[in-house]
Amino acid sequence: MRSPKDFFAPLALGAPAPLREIPFRPSRMIHFFDPSNERMRTKVPDIAPTVDVLLGNLEDAVSADSKDAARAGLIEVGKAWERGHTQLWTRVNSLDSPWFLDDVWALCHEIGDKLDVIMVPKVEGPEDIHYVDRLLAQLEARVGIEQPLLVHAILETARGVANVESICLASPRMQGLSLGPADLAADRRMKTTRVGGGHPGYLVRTDPVPEGDGDAGDDARTAFQQDLWHYTLARMVDACGTAGILPYYGPFGDIADPVGCEDQFRNAYLLGCVGAWSLHPSQIAIAKRVFSPEPAEVAWAHRVVTEMGDGTGAVMIDGKMQDDATVKQCRVVLQLARDLSAADPELAAAYGLETA
Ligand code: GLV
Ligand code: MG
Repeated sequence: MRSPKDFFAPLALGAPAPLREIPFRPSRMIHFFDPSNERMRTKVPDIAPTVDVLLGNLEDAVSADSKDAARAGLIEVGKAWERGHTQLWTRVNSLDSPWFLDDVWALCHEIGDKLDVIMVPKVEGPEDIHYVDRLLAQLEARVGIEQPLLVHAILETARGVANVESICLASPRMQGLSLGPADLAADRRMKTTRVGGGHPGYLVRTDPVPEGDGDAGDDARTAFQQDLWHYTLARMVDACGTAGILPYYGPFGDIADPVGCEDQFRNAYLLGCVGAWSLHPSQIAIAKRVFSPEPAEVAWAHRVVTEMGDGTGAVMIDGKMQDDATVKQCRVVLQLARDLSAADPELAAAYGLETA
């Protein structure tokens, strides 16, 4: 038994009080870089201002013999980091790896005041978050970190999906969730070898035409490709909404297919996600475009909110019925436009909004 009042009490003496609300900060793209790679480290000052989140990756895609170099490289980047609009995140190694403890220990001691969010991979249940929560509180207290470190979980095991609501609700540190389609596909024994995106074999087809009805054979039957990730993403969005935290599409691995990437990102955006990972600089612009509402949509939302006055009742605008619910939908779009514009004068101008 635990009193709900204790949910917001620090988990270690001297640790900062947990946040009661997850602040909305633009995070349309979480741009991954490998801090063990010196060439990538030298590019950080150029790339950082072009992204909402820069993430030093210590987990998969960093080979076992580069783990120490990646951790040291991220510490070097973090020490030179000036906090501003761009957030600095990390993806640490998984809880069952030999590197997790060293990752968290070293990062908290060396750059705990520079990191905004720690992404934890392969989270399977609330017990994983409880462990990380207490450990971070102890380290915050030990090091004197004043702002609570937030935690982002990757949903990439079947058990994680089954426990998604309790993962989101496990701690006030929970900032958000990303879909991890590669690990999730493997864990579920799905038969796709792609990193995210669709699959040409995942189809629904129209019925056969009965014989004698001018049968043109199976060629006349239209097939539509379905979205392999719809179910998981929709569950994630609801779980995050319930907990007041943010959902993200994860990686899209086919860098050579910007159109497929844009479609997948847009599906996620329309379903409620706030961003996606960019694994290559070419995906930064895609994420920025997709996860910022279109100016025409913002103008429409503004018109509906204005014409609906106090937000109750019903009016017709251009033949479309508007009521209390559509005003709420429009406010979601407007609020996102305002939040994104606050750090982006170009976007503010496109929306016709004032920047502070
Ligand atoms: C990401 O980590 C994935 O497994 O897709
Ligand atoms: Mg993974």
